Amino acid sequence: MIEHVETFAGTRDLQRARGGSIGLVPTLGFLHEGHSALIQRARSECDVVTVSVFVNPLQFGEGEDLDRYPRDIERDSTIAAAAGADLVFAPALTEMFPVAPVTTVSLEALTDTLTGKSRPGHFAGVATIVTKLFAGLQPDRAYFGRKDAQQLAVVTRLASDLSFPVRVVGCPIIREADGLAMSSRNTYLNDLERRAATSLSRGLMAAADAVERGTLDAETLEAIAYDAMSSEHLVEPEYAELHDAHSVVHLNTVDRDSFLAVAGRLGETRLIDNVHFDVTDEGIVIDRGIRSQQTESGQS
Ligand code: PAJ
Repeated sequence: MIEHVETFAGTRDLQRARGGSIGLVPTLGFLHEGHSALIQRARSECDVVTVSVFVNPLQFGEGEDLDRYPRDIERDSTIAAAAGADLVFAPALTEMFPVAPVTTVSLEALTDTLTGKSRPGHFAGVATIVTKLFAGLQPDRAYFGRKDAQQLAVVTRLASDLSFPVRVVGCPIIREADGLAMSSRNTYLNDLERRAATSLSRGLMAAADAVERGTLDAETLEAIAYDAMSSEHLVEPEYAELHDAHSVVHLNTVDRDSFLAVAGRLGETRLIDNVHFDVTDEGIVIDRGIRSQQTESGQS
C-alpha cells in the first residue's frame, strides 16, 4: 500500500519504520512513464522509495506556467504505486515554506548557459528545493532524468559541494513511440504542434547517427539538430549545443562525457531534449534514451 504524507517529519518517520536504504524521486507531479522509470529504478536499488510531488514556485519565472502546470495528486499516487513507490510526499506550500525563506542555494557555475540562460533564476529555484528535499528526507540515493541534463549536473554538483551523503543517479530519457521525449508539458501541445515537436528528437537522432559514423565536430552536429527544428514552421528553435555533462561548458568536439541539447518553442510551450555521449575506454557510448513500447499516453 502506498502512503500519502504531507510533512517532512511524517515522511522521515515512515521511512525509518520501513527501514533500510532510502531512494528519493523528486517531481513536479503529473507523472508519466519518464517518472515511472525513475521510480522503478529506485525500487530495484533501494529498500524504501519516496516520490515527492511539489510544484515548486521558486523555479518558475515571471510569466511562466506555474498557474497552469497540470496537477492531479490522485493520478500521481496511482502511477507512483504502480511503479513501486512506498511513499508519496506531497507537501502543502506552508509545509515547504512555513515562513518566507531568506536562505537560498545558487551555483556560481553550470547555470549561465542553455536553460539557465533563457530561464534566469530557474536553477537557483531547483537547487534550493532539492537542497530542502535532501536535508528534510535524507535519501541515500536520488534519481534524476537525463532529460534535464543541466539540472542533473547542477544537482550532482550541489550534493558534492554541500556534502550531502546522497548518491545522485542519472537515468535515460523515456520517449513516446515517435521519439518525442515525455514531458508533463506535452499536454499543452495541440495536434499540429505535437506533430512538429518530433523534429527535436529527429534532429538529435540524426546527429547521433553522425557521431556513430565518426563525426565529432560540435558545429556540424549542432547544425544537424538545429536544422531539423527549423524545418518545422511551428517550431521556433532556441538552441542546439554540445556541452560537457559535468561542467556544462560549451564544447567544440565530442571528446568527453557530453550531451547535445536542443530547446525549441511551440507557441507558448518550451520543450527541451538531448542525447548523451559517454566517452569510455571502449569508445563513445551514445544514450539516445528509450522509446516507450506503449501507444501514446493520450498526450496530443
Ligand atoms: P519534473 O519535471 O517533474 O521531473 C522530475 C524528474 O523526472 C526529473 O529528474 C526529470 O529529469 C525526470 N524526467 C522528466 N521527463 C523525463 C523523461 N521523459 N525521461 C526520463 N526522465 C524524465 O525536474 C523537475 O520535475 C523539478 O525540477 C524537480 C527536480 C522536481 C525540482 O523541483
